[in-house]
Amino acid sequence: MNTLLTKSSKKAAEILLGGGIVAFPTETVYGLGANIFDIKAIESVFYAKSRPGDNPLIAHVKSQLQIDLVAAEINSFAKKFFREFFPGPLTIVLPKAEKVPKAATAGLETIGVRMPRNELAGEFLQDCGTPIVAPSANLSGKPSPTTWEAVYEDLNGRIDCILQGEVSEIGLESTVVDCTGEFPVLLRSGAVSIAELRTIVPETKVLNYDESDQPRSPGLKHKHYAPTAKVLIFDPLSSEIENTENSAFIGLDKPPMEFKITEICETKDDYAHSIFSFFRRCDTEKIEKIYCQSVTEKGIGTALMDRIKRASES
Ligand code: TXA
Ligand code: MG
Repeated sequence: MNTLLTKSSKKAAEILLGGGIVAFPTETVYGLGANIFDIKAIESVFYAKSRPGDNPLIAHVKSQLQIDLVAAEINSFAKKFFREFFPGPLTIVLPKAEKVPKAATAGLETIGVRMPRNELAGEFLQDCGTPIVAPSANLSGKPSPTTWEAVYEDLNGRIDCILQGEVSEIGLESTVVDCTGEFPVLLRSGAVSIAELRTIVPETKVLNYDESDQPRSPGLKHKHYAPTAKVLIFDPLSSEIENTENSAFIGLDKPPMEFKITEICETKDDYAHSIFSFFRRCDTEKIEKIYCQSVTEKGIGTALMDRIKRASES
């Protein structure tokens, strides 16, 4: 398959509406989009990414009208979250509308809904005029792509088009909150923190994985975000490493030893913004070990540590 590279949202929309699958930028990470009502295209998304069939996709929308197209009902706390955080890096899980094919939700009766705030994503959704289901545009198991070049690296020849935008503003995937139960439950941390969710709905809970044998967010049980190199969590202020050969470091403080690649980030936001592209760069340069400085789990730090821990477990 020939993958078209374009900066035109109109061209990209034309390809999507013709049944193609199109990678596009958002403020979190790049997504791989298909028309939500096109079952064949949705199947191609799973195939292109080698995505496990039991991992549901997020519906990306442009308007309230499109939210009503994909969700059967929206309870009062979901409405509060919409009002506060849309458009932005938050996905809200709701009961799905009947018309939404089960291919999109991996058989579930619920659907994640998100309204991206990235400008080019908005133009693309507008030009498509239909909700778009999209997982992150990486090969399954790899770090999510934060540039169109990273999408190209994983999916060139496997998808119809890449809409070329800027580097993703946030660099970590959206916060996912399940609003289908009695109270909201945070399923995946992201740039919208649990503290922010609780300022809007104080009863919001955090999913306790140990207590739920059936993962509510199926994606969380799959291998994720992992570079080929081994990822290690490290505090340069209190630990020492003797052999740093073929190793890399990323964090906030300058480590006392030399690494083959060292990336010092000014803020936690910068660190979150850089982590996935750093993982990819380390793989390109055949790094064997990546030392990631641990940060306090507050605000974006929670999401950042979640991704680093997952990468270190694989
Ligand atoms: O920021 C993002 O969310 C990006 C951009 C492209 O929007 N998308 C993304 O999609 O990260 P993906 O497919 O890589 O991750 C979606 C996560 C998975 O963990 C999946 O299991 C969960 O959301 N999810 C999706 N639909 C769900 C549902 N109906 N119920 C529970 N979890 C759901
Ligand atoms: Mg993903």
